Amino acid sequence: MIKLTDRLQLIADMIETGETMADIGTDHGFLPLYLMESGKSPRVIMCDISGPSLDKAREAAAQTGITSGAECREGDGLDVIERGEVDAVVIAGMGGLLITQILDKDPAKTASIRKYIFQPRNNAALLRWWLTSKGFKITKNSLVREGKFICEVISAFAPKSLETGDFRASGGVSAKEDPSWDLPADITSSEKGLDREFALLKLSQEGKKLEGLRKSRNTDRKEIEKAEQRMAYFRRFANDRI
Ligand SMILES: C[S@@+](CC[C@H](N)C(=O)[O-])C[C@H]1O[C@@H](n2cnc3c(N)ncnc32)[C@H](O)[C@@H]1O
Repeated sequence: MIKLTDRLQLIADMIETGETMADIGTDHGFLPLYLMESGKSPRVIMCDISGPSLDKAREAAAQTGITSGAECREGDGLDVIERGEVDAVVIAGMGGLLITQILDKDPAKTASIRKYIFQPRNNAALLRWWLTSKGFKITKNSLVREGKFICEVISAFAPKSLETGDFRASGGVSAKEDPSWDLPADITSSEKGLDREFALLKLSQEGKKLEGLRKSRNTDRKEIEKAEQRMAYFRRFANDRI
């Protein structure tokens, strides 16, 4: 039986028994193969833009002895999936910007799949902002440790059709400025204290940015104020979780 890392196990736990799924950027294929082996998913599609990555997934499938129900498809993002073909799509281990580009390529196809689980390696704030702007409903924001990294996992339901208008969050703040896109108040973790550790990490990163802004001669006072406000948010979040 495949043993998943805590990060992939958290994602696997978000798939309901009986759900079919596609794993976009599957690489080694461990997540979908685990879902098949454990009997959770009756059908999985392992997708990757890279042939050598899919070879790894094929090899792993052969080792587990799975002969039916797990398919490999080579191609870019959702190109290799038919409209509404699976109950859930996972996109893990890619940058947040790339994830938005994959979802934006064919909005009708994206909206034809109900459930998504994302694990952005970076730019999670941008991804949350983009998803909200397009009408997705974010259902859970989670944190999980993997080695020296704290990883973010976002689950969401797609809207019936993706909104096209220009979105501005309340007060007209952008993804860059509003710290709740980086650190939503409802973010959870099964590891005690990980949310606080994450907030302190954000506080330290913002502190370094602020230092840079203060050193630069051309910095607008407003930028400094925004960075200070973001730091205050992260500090408050961490203090509330002592
Ligand atoms: C870091 S691995 C992540 C593997 C696995 N999903 C995980 O989280 O452990 C990223 C994978 O995404 C694939 N990839 C990158 N861009 C892609 C795209 N546009 N469409 C499909 N796969 C892509 C890469 O080839 C690579 O195998």
